Amino acid sequence: MSNKTFYITTPIYYPSDKLHIGHSYTTVAADAMARFKRLTGCDVWFLTGTDEHGQKIQRSSESAGKDPQHFVDDIVAWIKDLWSALDISYDDFIRTTEPRHKQAVQEIFNRLYRQGDIYRGRYEGWYCTPCESFWTARQVEEGNCPDCGRPVELVAEEGYFFRMSRYADRLLEHINNNPDFIQPPSRKNEMINNFLRPGLEDLCVSRTTFKWGIPVPFAREHVIYVWLDALSNYITALGYTRDETLFHKYWPADVHLIGKEIVRFHAIYWPIFLMALGVPLPKQVFGHGWLIMKEGKMSKSRGNVIDPMVLIERYGSDSIRYFLLREIPFGADGVFSNESMLQRINTDLANDLGNLLSRTLTMVERFFSGIIPAPAAGEEHSSDLELRELALSTPSRMAELMDKLQFSSALETLWALVRRSNKYIDENAPWLLAKKEEDRKRLGTVLYNLCESLRFISVFLLPYMPRAPMRIWSQLGIDTMPHLHQWNSLEKWGLLKPGIKAQRTADLFPRLDIDKELASLLEGKDSMEKEQKAFSAGGHNLVKEEKRAVKEPSSVNGNEKEQIFPEKTELVSLEEFTRLDIRVGEIISAEPVPQTEKLLKVVVNLGKEERQVVAGIALYYSPGELTGKKVLFVSNLKPVKIRGLLSEGMILAASSPEGKVVLTAVDGDVPAGSKIS
Ligand code: MSP
Repeated sequence: MSNKTFYITTPIYYPSDKLHIGHSYTTVAADAMARFKRLTGCDVWFLTGTDEHGQKIQRSSESAGKDPQHFVDDIVAWIKDLWSALDISYDDFIRTTEPRHKQAVQEIFNRLYRQGDIYRGRYEGWYCTPCESFWTARQVEEGNCPDCGRPVELVAEEGYFFRMSRYADRLLEHINNNPDFIQPPSRKNEMINNFLRPGLEDLCVSRTTFKWGIPVPFAREHVIYVWLDALSNYITALGYTRDETLFHKYWPADVHLIGKEIVRFHAIYWPIFLMALGVPLPKQVFGHGWLIMKEGKMSKSRGNVIDPMVLIERYGSDSIRYFLLREIPFGADGVFSNESMLQRINTDLANDLGNLLSRTLTMVERFFSGIIPAPAAGEEHSSDLELRELALSTPSRMAELMDKLQFSSALETLWALVRRSNKYIDENAPWLLAKKEEDRKRLGTVLYNLCESLRFISVFLLPYMPRAPMRIWSQLGIDTMPHLHQWNSLEKWGLLKPGIKAQRTADLFPRLDIDKELASLLEGKDSMEKEQKAFSAGGHNLVKEEKRAVKEPSSVNGNEKEQIFPEKTELVSLEEFTRLDIRVGEIISAEPVPQTEKLLKVVVNLGKEERQVVAGIALYYSPGELTGKKVLFVSNLKPVKIRGLLSEGMILAASSPEGKVVLTAVDGDVPAGSKIS
């Protein structure tokens, strides 16, 4: 039997500028949901992309002095880098300038015209270019857009119109009969009261006063209105009007995740276009709230936008994802501040979760030489029972909350288990049990239960913080046991086998010095603003520079800034290749580089000499398992200093498409120092 499908989408973003933390919020939420559904057994399709046409983009490209296609290409490359840095696991990324989309939109326009839903007329009214929306005189507030508050422009041009009024009653009926269709409920009431009840006007669906759009197929001086073009992405990406295999498999979407200001387009125009096409409606449109700053909306003109790349590079994507999902109840507006983000990282991640892992494994190390002990059979203490029952009841409670997109409450539920586990340590005081031989069995039970609870927690974390679980598994010694990483392994307490060798390595989330971090972020903001200005002014090279600076997980010598991932493979001569001195190296020792997540200091024997390198492999290998491994080693790279440590060479590794790093091995027994040619 095939798995239940789940299709989730984000809005497609305008590549008119770099995206900020508010845009990342929508995408991280969609990603957490997609990962949760995959984890719990659904066949998921997760779509994101970019909305590249329209007057707004044309104007931005003009002010940057570039043609629109080149202008968006650069920004889209930056956006894809951002999603990769944030571990966004999309299945498809649609760009509305791709032929697969343009052809399908023209076909949609043709169909609607042929069946009489679209007719020719003349538009005279108001237009907001930043929102790409038409407004009537009644809706405009003192010359400003009722949505974004910016000035609207008077437009008078020939156009094609869609007969919205034809479908208004059917839509109202659908909304009333399907209470989950628009969520949260407040957004539904707003749609009914502000737009449907006063009566829907026909919508102008073409423009003639600029060129950057998909031409109307039978009247090429018109371009298709950017919202009709953009909304169609949700079906064109599935092959609608072309190869419809994916469309039949995944449509209707389970949820369109969007921000509150674009609910109108998704809950009124989009369903009406679909009704006209005879296509079923999406099951849900969820309009989440905004991430705002203390002083109000995040906007470039106020100079208060937060660059997510800066935060990811400093604190890692897991921490940023956690903060976004945990801090604000999904649906409501919430304030972003560096202080609250740093507090959360310290309290929830470093203290609660990080300490639970390090306290547990330190005691397993100290009292059982690092071997996970067996729980004693027989008597069960009330704290054991409570911990176990809480762990076993957590999956269904989290699933229920996730089905309502309540990310923050789902994480709160998970943290109840993290805190219960920490309390369990305090209640049972293993350090006292360790003092008496007769308590040794009890000590074993307590530490076993803590390791098993950590395993449960690691699986629960997967959708929200995809990297931390791997690091927990590696410290628990279960990274090569996939059956212990699965959702259905949480149906039973006790699947973790005693006798496994655990090893405490780097802190999961090092504690941050908040004052120092706040000062650095403030300092960084000034230089970021300068870069942002250059970017907006068309700083072509800046995009390239930034692409190069993006941390590349495959840079195993940890040399993040210097490692450049080539855009396309260049051919090299044999002569050039032989300039590299590649040797078999044997790892003698490895240890974490303090205050880093990814780096290990590794000493390698090359036969006649030993070399130290700093390698970015801590997320994938624990120091203990590296010792004795034979690897391929580039020995004549110029030495560099990383985090103050000399790195003289590079260990070669492969990286999987998901970014997992695997060291290259030597097939057979050759002595350290042997040359590779
Ligand atoms: N291109 C349209 C969407 C077309 S979908 C068929 C668009 N793009 S956008 O880039 O302006 O915004 C994309 C999304 O980012 C919207 O859902 C918007 O709500 C979200 N956000 C932008 N700023 C935000 C915050 N400050 N906080 C939360 N979400 C924010 O609209």
